[in-house]
Amino acid sequence: MTPRTTRHLRRTFLYAPGSDARKLAKAPTLGADAVILDLEDSVAPDRKAEARERITGLLRGHPDPTTERLIRLNGVTSPHFAADVECAVAATADGLVIPKVDDADTLREVDGRLAAAERDAGRPIGGLRLFAMIESARAVLNAYAIAGATSRLQGLLLGHVDLLRDLGLTPGPAGRGTVHHARCQLVLAARAAGVDAVDAIYLDIRDQEGLRAEAVQAAGMGFIGKQVIHPGQIPVVRAAFSPSEERVERAERVLEAWQKARAEGRGVAVLDGMLLEPPVIAMEQLILERARQARRHAGSG
Ligand code: COA
Ligand code: MG
Repeated sequence: MTPRTTRHLRRTFLYAPGSDARKLAKAPTLGADAVILDLEDSVAPDRKAEARERITGLLRGHPDPTTERLIRLNGVTSPHFAADVECAVAATADGLVIPKVDDADTLREVDGRLAAAERDAGRPIGGLRLFAMIESARAVLNAYAIAGATSRLQGLLLGHVDLLRDLGLTPGPAGRGTVHHARCQLVLAARAAGVDAVDAIYLDIRDQEGLRAEAVQAAGMGFIGKQVIHPGQIPVVRAAFSPSEERVERAERVLEAWQKARAEGRGVAVLDGMLLEPPVIAMEQLILERARQARRHAGSG
């Protein structure tokens, strides 16, 4: 299936608590590919209304084509959801992150509620794109159905802290055990449905080495990016999801060898002992395209 989302560079998704005016204002200026302005777990229940106002005000004031601006709503069964949807449609966000999506019906319900709110507000129906958080055992098992539930959906985000809680496990990194299995499953589900897979946050903001290792692992698993919670995590994660200069040079050499083989009428080629064949070439071309995207983004950021 053709991916729906190759236009977007989505290496880093930075959260900012919706009730924290300073972090909210700083978040879009820190070079993340996407910001997630949060109405859910980082905002106390009695500050949800204030957070909605702050987010709406911020998004009105700062149109920015280089950063994808997303709002994380409260879950569909929470008492805050209806007001969150109103806020989401009134604010000029690019899309929404929906937490605690356990099955495809939940996402279809969100889709319907958004469509009704868009109609009421005179906005184009389907204008808001969606990202679903996979953060329970049920959600992991339903991930493929969730990924195909609505054409608004552009990505699955792993919520590993809630998943750990659901599994009866203590908070920790995402690189091991059942959570690691869930990461594999999420990537397979997202890719099978043609949407993006986005890895979990890394909880320890001081541990840059641990973060780097987990991000490199995630990039090697097929994730397109990773959620981050602190500005210091952005460069580390961005680097892990961007082709290095050496990798770009290697891709260029592979393509040269391939073109030479083709010109000589050979269907396969060998470079440094590695067999080159069409899927290898397609991946090398993708690496070069990602490097070009990253350069364009750096130039315009
Ligand atoms: N977005 C924007 N700016 C942020 C930020 C974020 N997520 N996290 C920190 N900053 C800013 C701080 O405001 C500070 O800038 P300032 O000195 O100009 O005010 C600077 O970066 C350094 O911050 P630091 O002092 O190291 O962190 P902190 O103690 O203020 O905050 C956290 C630490 C973890 C509370 C904070 O990073 C945070 O709120 N993260 C997001 C949490 C969240 O949204 N969770 C929900 C989803 S998992
Ligand atoms: Mg969560």
